[in-house]
Amino acid sequence: MAVGQRVINLFRRKLNKVDRELVESYLDEAGLFLFNQMSFSDQKHAVTVARYLLSEKVDTQGANLRPLIKGALLHDVGKVKGEIAWWNRILVGLIRRFFPRLRTKWGKRGEGGLNHALYVDLHHPSRGAYMAESLGIDPTVVSLIKHHHDEPNERTNLELALLQNADAKN
Ligand SMILES: [Fe+2]
Ligand SMILES: [Fe+2]
Repeated sequence: MAVGQRVINLFRRKLNKVDRELVESYLDEAGLFLFNQMSFSDQKHAVTVARYLLSEKVDTQGANLRPLIKGALLHDVGKVKGEIAWWNRILVGLIRRFFPRLRTKWGKRGEGGLNHALYVDLHHPSRGAYMAESLGIDPTVVSLIKHHHDEPNERTNLELALLQNADAKN
């Protein structure tokens, strides 16, 4: 998704019917609970990643598609709605892109504003995985959430590689 579109999405509220149907066709009650607590812009991003993986642009042959799409829909659940102000979301996006070292330097738990926003951005994979695990989400999906920002390593499986690629492009 283009940066401009992401910024516009920060101000919208609700998914349209078609997007909602896609989400509901993949997630059970616990998954929906997690999904619903994300902000609109994170929900929209998740749906865009899922749709990209379901499109012809990606070769998902050999991949376990259902957990992959669930993982796409839930990968950013560690970013809780209302926790980060929209201006800090924009700053975090810019810092992640242009000044990655500042993320660890400035990212502090419990501090106000931007520091906390950076903290959440850094820790959302493990936090999201913990939330999903607590609600009994499929371990394959939990693992996708947990590792979606890991550098590629010998444990990176096909589903994770596909998700990471789709996330980076959307
Ligand atoms: Fe993420
Ligand atoms: Fe993401």
